[in-house]
Amino acid sequence: MMKKWWMESVGYQIYPKSFYDSNRDGIGDLKGIIKKLPYLSKLGINLIWIGPVYDSPMDDNGYDVRDFYKIDKTFGDINDMKVLIEKAHVLDIKIILDYVLNHTSDEHPWFIESRSSKNNKYRDYYIWQEGKLINDKMVEPTNWGSFFGGSCWQYDDISHSYYMKIFSNKMPDLNWKNPNVRASMVEVGKWWLNLGIDGFRIDAVSHLERASFEDIENSQEKYPLDWHKFSNLPKVHDYVKELNQKVFSPNNCLAIGEVGGEPTIESALSYAGFDANELSMVFFFDHNWCNNIFEIEDPKDLKIDVIKLKQVFLKWQVGFSDKGWLPLNWLNHDQPRLMSHYGKLKYFKASGKMLATLMYMMRGTPFVYQGEEIGMTNYPFSKVEDFNDISSIHYYQYLVNEKKEDQSKALIKASMKSRDNARTPMQWNDHKFSGFSEVDPWLNVNPNYKEINVASQINDNDSIWTHYQNLFALRKSSKYRETIIYGTWELIDFENDKIIAYLRNDQNYSLLIINNLTEEILNYELRSYLIETVVLSNNEVQVMNENVLSLKPYGSIVLEVKENL
Ligand code: NOJ
Repeated sequence: MMKKWWMESVGYQIYPKSFYDSNRDGIGDLKGIIKKLPYLSKLGINLIWIGPVYDSPMDDNGYDVRDFYKIDKTFGDINDMKVLIEKAHVLDIKIILDYVLNHTSDEHPWFIESRSSKNNKYRDYYIWQEGKLINDKMVEPTNWGSFFGGSCWQYDDISHSYYMKIFSNKMPDLNWKNPNVRASMVEVGKWWLNLGIDGFRIDAVSHLERASFEDIENSQEKYPLDWHKFSNLPKVHDYVKELNQKVFSPNNCLAIGEVGGEPTIESALSYAGFDANELSMVFFFDHNWCNNIFEIEDPKDLKIDVIKLKQVFLKWQVGFSDKGWLPLNWLNHDQPRLMSHYGKLKYFKASGKMLATLMYMMRGTPFVYQGEEIGMTNYPFSKVEDFNDISSIHYYQYLVNEKKEDQSKALIKASMKSRDNARTPMQWNDHKFSGFSEVDPWLNVNPNYKEINVASQINDNDSIWTHYQNLFALRKSSKYRETIIYGTWELIDFENDKIIAYLRNDQNYSLLIINNLTEEILNYELRSYLIETVVLSNNEVQVMNENVLSLKPYGSIVLEVKENL
């Protein structure tokens, strides 16, 4: 069996603008992360993914990079980064950074050169096309929509052509067909590894190739979004193989790619199968929308589709069982908060702990998103001005202007999905500005910080925080460590639409993990197994006898079991 350090890690994602502000400017920074390293270590974290901290005009909070070799001054400087790496390593914490390959900022020197004339040597660093003349009017080369709304082409009046940008206007897409682009990005990767980081989270890696430039037919929308036009196309694998050969493999680093665009298992394995020679793992999103969020108008009506969620777990866990390794994550900085999406505030502790157990007892490497460990929730947006995120603002405007939705309904819909939910400042304590900063932060603090914060949970044996700590201690240092990390995964009782139960097995132990995803009290009978030991529970489960459990709302339990012969 293949074993790698990152399979045994417990990861944590930091959104740097919102983690901890050490210099009182209302924005999180590298020194702030350094201060909180002992906190992360106490939680059981030994791998952190830090979102982009490179020099940027911040159109998309740092994913629009102006200089790949410079730390943005709001976050500190390169010396802070060196200290961070060193101090993290002393605590046995590895660090990965975002590797943003698909685009740069329009303020990056390559783009400034590229747009300056059609003959410039950087012209082909980006994807330029002439517009189409329709009835004497110049229109975009194709009608493709972008992820953030509107066309995926932007007219540039310096050279009277269009450049491609599948995210914002200020994020022109790099042309990966150009070997010089590839060589430049290889240099970027090597430079950061030389500085001492342990790997990368690779942003938007599945989008590095585009289909041929033909209109999407029969659409009601002016700019239909069909991400298959720029997702998971064959050439991407050539590019990632090249990166693997030149950057990842020689450094034995972790390379975890964000693979959107609905990859199949086959396609995901071609990136991250053990023999793919491309990536270590892929972040995917199938499990992120297994509820009725696209149908409802009031967040109170949110309901998990338990069977759909099971199908997703089954698809990925089985698809990767002996062929590759998966990350385990509910969240990232682009998703609504877990507690507001799949949890139930009325059963705050129970549902928060249950969701953690459900996810982090599976086979793979956990990645907690900052604030998840204390059950942070969505922000109560009351006006569009509360949004900072460019895609939330565009979505709201689209609903109001194009779909002619009532403003208040549009606000609710945009709020339920807004990426800003995940980006409000970390809630450290009940002091002003939640202990994140001493001045008014760049994004409002969630008003529930007085009840939901780290200080009130860290010493409480019954808190969500402590449950996360317990789960990670089991994975890292208990007798079940090997079973939890490398054991097989098997879903049981597929038809049960209220409970998700699965088994983890190896030659030493059988663990049975049972989770009630409803507000009902449910009895659960273990037919083929007998309970040996209760390993961990969220205190919402009663063991009636050696094969019957009574699960309260959101009850969750990890059992060591033996076969009932
Ligand atoms: C994916 C990142 O997660 C998201 O935050 C960003 O907006 C896009 N890639 C563009 O870089």
